[in-house]
Amino acid sequence: MPPIAQLLLSLLPLTTSTHFPPHDPNLRDEIVAPLRGLQSQVELDAWAAQIREKALDKVFANIGRDPDYFFTWTRDAALTASGLLSLLPLLPSNTSPAIAAASSQPDTRSYISHDSTNRTLSFFSDYVDGQLVLQKLSNPSGTYETLEGLGEPKFHPNLTAYLGDWGRPQRDGPALRASAVMQYIDYMTSAGPLDPAFGDKAIQLVRADLDYTAKYWNHTTFDLWEEVKGSSFFTTIAQFHALRHGAAFFASIDARRSQEYKEEAKKALCFAQEYLEDGEAGKWVRSNINIENGVKRNDLDANSMLATLLSPPSSICASHLFTPCSAHSLTNLASVIRSFTSLYPINHDGETSLVASIPLPREQTQPQMTFSTSFSRPLRPIAVGRYSEDTYYGGNPWYLTTLAAAEQLYRASTIWKREGRVQVSGDGAFWERVVGLPVGAGVYESGTDDIYEEMLEKVRDFADGMLDVVRQYIPQTGQVDEQIDKVTGAGRSARDLTWSYIALLTTLRARSDSLAASWLSPRSARAATSDETWLHELECPPPSDYNGTMSVGFELEVETKWGETVFLAGSSPSLGSWDVSRAIRLSARDYTSPKPLWKTKKAVEIEGRRGIEWKIVKLQADGSVVWEAGENRVFYTSSSGSRTIATRWRGA
Ligand code: NOJ
Repeated sequence: MPPIAQLLLSLLPLTTSTHFPPHDPNLRDEIVAPLRGLQSQVELDAWAAQIREKALDKVFANIGRDPDYFFTWTRDAALTASGLLSLLPLLPSNTSPAIAAASSQPDTRSYISHDSTNRTLSFFSDYVDGQLVLQKLSNPSGTYETLEGLGEPKFHPNLTAYLGDWGRPQRDGPALRASAVMQYIDYMTSAGPLDPAFGDKAIQLVRADLDYTAKYWNHTTFDLWEEVKGSSFFTTIAQFHALRHGAAFFASIDARRSQEYKEEAKKALCFAQEYLEDGEAGKWVRSNINIENGVKRNDLDANSMLATLLSPPSSICASHLFTPCSAHSLTNLASVIRSFTSLYPINHDGETSLVASIPLPREQTQPQMTFSTSFSRPLRPIAVGRYSEDTYYGGNPWYLTTLAAAEQLYRASTIWKREGRVQVSGDGAFWERVVGLPVGAGVYESGTDDIYEEMLEKVRDFADGMLDVVRQYIPQTGQVDEQIDKVTGAGRSARDLTWSYIALLTTLRARSDSLAASWLSPRSARAATSDETWLHELECPPPSDYNGTMSVGFELEVETKWGETVFLAGSSPSLGSWDVSRAIRLSARDYTSPKPLWKTKKAVEIEGRRGIEWKIVKLQADGSVVWEAGENRVFYTSSSGSRTIATRWRGA
């Protein structure tokens, strides 16, 4: 096969489309229905064993049906690459991966066949070659020279740029790609030296991706769903992990870069804390902040569950790291799943009244801003989508988002098992509402606390429940699409989506790890060495140390009497930190009776990337101050750019 053809073959499996015409959902009804109702874990085990190689074949197969619909996404490709790596057998040092796959030594778990191991290994060399070409292509996001071009989200599979309109840039791609390639190099070098020619190419690819990430992590981006322009939690976490890994990876290659990556990793992780919100059931992650393109949602989004899966297997549960077992990640998971209850008919199992009350298809006319993070009933495993206001293909659950919840929980239980303890934080909502165990705050240890085993078991049961939901909607052919039709349960939207297959495989792998007696891969053991203590002891600098500013103009309609003036006061230093004597005085230059406008004379430079609270204030002729009624107003700033806020005084 000529090299270019070989290269294409390796890229095509990583391509998907978001532009499939809807296919007839009734086609697969009769296949889906008989699979409902899991009786035992054994049944799930048997299904997992038979679907595994099928799914892997799909990842490797050239699955194109109509080339017009096919692209390669940097994100999907990188997640597939790193997912494949997680399936490989563990390497005792000085054992080649091929030997390890065939070996029966107890610590080399041949999770996939010898053949698949070899396919995965040869895939990586094509992957690196292909991505080097894409990385250098000039495209609508920019060029290789300024690095901006690396933010381009998708390409044609013949390795040319896609020039149509799209949500760009998407800044998670380079970070995910760097992480996948570093994981691969770590994996290979644990068995022996790398082929130098391959090593040079791979390091060149990783270096540019990390330089890009270090330079641009603080800039707004389109989110992983390619819809919201702002700051996306998944992207920030992807960037943090890439930089964290890069700092260790480059320590012996390029000390200056290693230091720079470490500094930027700290900032990105500190910035990640800004996505946290207090909810009734504990903290949750607002997946999109600093939104620039006007998208309004409740922001409970599978984005945040997927982000936890980017943590290395060696992770600990510290909350600020957002690993699968972090307290915040767990209450967030509960809140995200909760946001989908009552949304999809397939989740109601015969509760017809509920089904009937859901308008179908669910068209979005108004942004849905009312939501709750409280729990009136314990959660049960259900199919979940991307976010509850989704209207793409009518808004359906997705395979990969439902699997993300299962994978997060399997991985959490593996970490707890490795640590021999579970720490429950104050809110306990996860344990009570998801797991059904009303455990109080405290540390539960293996061997000491009887309930420890039960806790792990119940978490795995819930994860099995989520996996079983997905299983019900995979026909016997093993075909996994992008979405699950919310009414019929048939596959919808992009057929044979590679990301869905790899999500299924990594979830099954995480499940089998969580069931294994004890397991810690040599790779992950290495990653957990003390040179990462800086991460665990992170102290965040004030955000102003690493944020730019946004120019915000205000146009406020406030009726005033002669002698009154209008100010705006707010939480940021630029708005006087709620001190009215330092508030911003507005101008009545354009005030008319039909339109009583008070405006900023020039835009205010407001500290970037944060939530700003503010209010309008009147200074009356006698010197007294009147605050407008209601809650503080809130908006999010980005690190650059400008916007105008136009609104009116809220009377009492
Ligand atoms: C649409 C999804 O929203 C996006 O995340 C993904 O990268 C592309 N489809 C390709 O699968």
